Amino acid sequence: MKMKSNGKPASRIAGMGWFAPDKILTNTDLERMVDTSDEWITTRTGIKRRHIVEPGTRASELATPAARSAMDEAGVNPEDIDMILVATVTGDYKFPSTAIFLQANLGAKNAVAMDISAACAGYLYTLHFADMMIRSGQAKTVLVVGVEVLTSMINWKDRSTCVLFGDAAGAAVVVPSADNRGILASYLGTDGSLADLLNCPGGGSAYPAMNREIPMEDFTIHMKGNEVFKHAVKKMGDAAVIALDLAGIEKNDIDLLFAHQANMRIIDATAKRLKVPQKKVFKNIQEYGNTSTASIPLAMGEARQKGLITDDSVVVCVAFGGGFTWASSVIRF
Ligand code: ACO
Repeated sequence: MKMKSNGKPASRIAGMGWFAPDKILTNTDLERMVDTSDEWITTRTGIKRRHIVEPGTRASELATPAARSAMDEAGVNPEDIDMILVATVTGDYKFPSTAIFLQANLGAKNAVAMDISAACAGYLYTLHFADMMIRSGQAKTVLVVGVEVLTSMINWKDRSTCVLFGDAAGAAVVVPSADNRGILASYLGTDGSLADLLNCPGGGSAYPAMNREIPMEDFTIHMKGNEVFKHAVKKMGDAAVIALDLAGIEKNDIDLLFAHQANMRIIDATAKRLKVPQKKVFKNIQEYGNTSTASIPLAMGEARQKGLITDDSVVVCVAFGGGFTWASSVIRF
C-alpha cells in the first residue's frame, strides 16, 4: 500500500509526546537473571538499559501521558479529537481496545477509537491511516499512539528474547496540512507466510488462555532472532527507499532517520543502505531497548524534545515487525 502526496501533503504532525516508566532494568541486572553478559547484549544489540513497568500496569496508563503531551504541543482539546488509533500488541484487554480506555481517560468524547495490530510496524500503519482519514475528509484531528507493555509477555528464562524488550508509549496529533509540510509519502507491506518466525501464540483462539494444558511459554514472545534479523535488514532498507522515491526526496536531503530501535546493527545497516551519516541517525535503543510499536514515536518524541526536529526537517521513519509487517514514511516538519 502506497501514498504519494505529490508535494501537497494532506496531513501533518502538530504535536508529539512520549512516556517511559521510571523503573530501569540494566544489562547487569539481567546477568543475575539469565546466562548472559553486558558484553554480549551490548555488542549484539546496542542495548544497555530498558525502562519497565511495575507488573499489572496497563498499556493505557502509558498511552495517556504520552497522548496528553502530544495534545499539549498541538494545542488541541480532548473534544477536538475525531479519531484515536492505537497500535499495540500488548493492549489492556483482549477486548475492548486499548484505544477506548485512552478515549475515556482523555475525555475525548467525540472520537471514534480502535486498535491496530501490526507488531513493530503498527505505529507507522496508524500514521498512514490517520493521513488517509484526513485525506478523505472523514477526520480533522487524529490522535495516533504506539504503546507496549512488552514485559507482560516476556519469558524471563529465555535469554534470546528477555534481554531485548522494554515498555513505553509515544503519540502524535495529526491534523490537515495547509502548506508543503506534512506526510509526503508512506508505504506499508505485509508477508503473513513468515508468521512462525516471530509471534506470541497464547491467548488467541488457537491457544485459548483457559486451556490449562498450554505451557506458559506459549504466552510469551517466540522469535527466531537471526532469521528475523536478515528479513529486517532487507525489508527496512527496501521500504525506506520506496518511501523516498514516492516522496521525490533524495537520500542527501534526509535530515534525520528513525529506524525501528530493534537492534543497533539493523539500524546501522539501514543507514548504510540509505547512505545516511551517523550524525543523522537517531538512536535511543541503548536506553529503552526494543519497545515495538512505541519505538518510532518514542524516538521522534525524544528527538523533538531535544530540538533535533525543527521546522523544515525532512525525516524518514522505517519499521519492521512480526507478521512480517513493515512500513515507512517520509515527513517534512
Ligand atoms: N546472552 C548470551 N548469549 C546469547 C543470548 C544472550 N542474551 N541470546 C542468544 N545467545 C546465544 C545463542 O544461544 C547463540 O549461541 P550458540 O552459537 O552457542 O548457539 C549465539 O548467542 C548466537 O545467537 P543468534 O540468535 O544467532 O545471535 P544474533 O547475533 O542473531 O543476535 C538477536 C540475536 C539480538 C535477537 C538478533 O538476531 C536480532 O536483533 N534479531 C532481530 C530482532 C528484530 O528485529 N525483531 C523485529 C521486531 S520485534 C517485534 O516485532 C516484537
